[in-house]
Amino acid sequence: MSPKEAMKELIMGKCYKIFYFKRPGRSCGIVILGAVSLMSCRDKREPGRVYMPDMAYSRAYEAYAPNSLKQKGINYINYPVDGTIRRGDLFSYTLPNDSNGYKMSAEVKDPLPPLDSVGLHEAQRLFNIYCAICHGPNMDAQGPMAGKVGAIANLKLPQYVKEPEGQMFHVATYGKNNMGSYASQLDKKQRWMVIQYIKSVQAGSAITAAAGDTTSAKATTPTSPKDSMTAKK
Ligand code: HEC
Repeated sequence: MSPKEAMKELIMGKCYKIFYFKRPGRSCGIVILGAVSLMSCRDKREPGRVYMPDMAYSRAYEAYAPNSLKQKGINYINYPVDGTIRRGDLFSYTLPNDSNGYKMSAEVKDPLPPLDSVGLHEAQRLFNIYCAICHGPNMDAQGPMAGKVGAIANLKLPQYVKEPEGQMFHVATYGKNNMGSYASQLDKKQRWMVIQYIKSVQAGSAITAAAGDTTSAKATTPTSPKDSMTAKK
């Protein structure tokens, strides 16, 4: 038997075993040809069949993600009930994102107690991550994006030193002109912390002088805006 014939014999023999043909012949060849052409014509973008998908992919529902539980008669509340807040959370900020809301926000008061040195240090860290890229670590609008983003507010200017804390919170929540909203990066408490930090720096508090060193006694010394915040409570 020539090697070619031996190969043919082998293939036909296998074919015979797989498809249980009585006699390996032309039909076997057609079946193989058909299978090959079927495989080659399959859409490559189609993921194909998955064996036991329930084990390969989690069927868990993501919190707050759309799901079909209601249609299945399962009582699952997708979102917090209206008018309720998470335990330990701050009240919702309800002023609208428009000029009227901006004006009214001047009356909104910081609900947090004055931050201690650890809190201020954390607030500084958040400011340096999210705000300093434009406003600069010294809040003089000299961050790395200065010149690339137009009209960055120099928070050292008197108009911003005088700006009510609520209005700053409003801007951090919704954004203003070239500044975007930070509500998805910083939760309400973090936003208020950052505003307290801005206010303390604007007042020339020790934390700027001792940036990154809040363990110094200077940083914990109460400053005038913090005193006024305490007085408000
Ligand atoms: C992409 C650059 C950019 C980043 C990042 C940024 N800001 Fe601003 N910010 C601006 C610009 C631009 C303005 C001026 C907006 C205007 O009045 O047109 C501004 C204005 C402000 C004002 C003055 C608001 C007012 O009422 O006029 C405050 C307060 C402020 N930013 C706080 C923050 C805080 C807090 C963060 C970080 C959470 C932050 N900014 C991050 C660009 C930025």
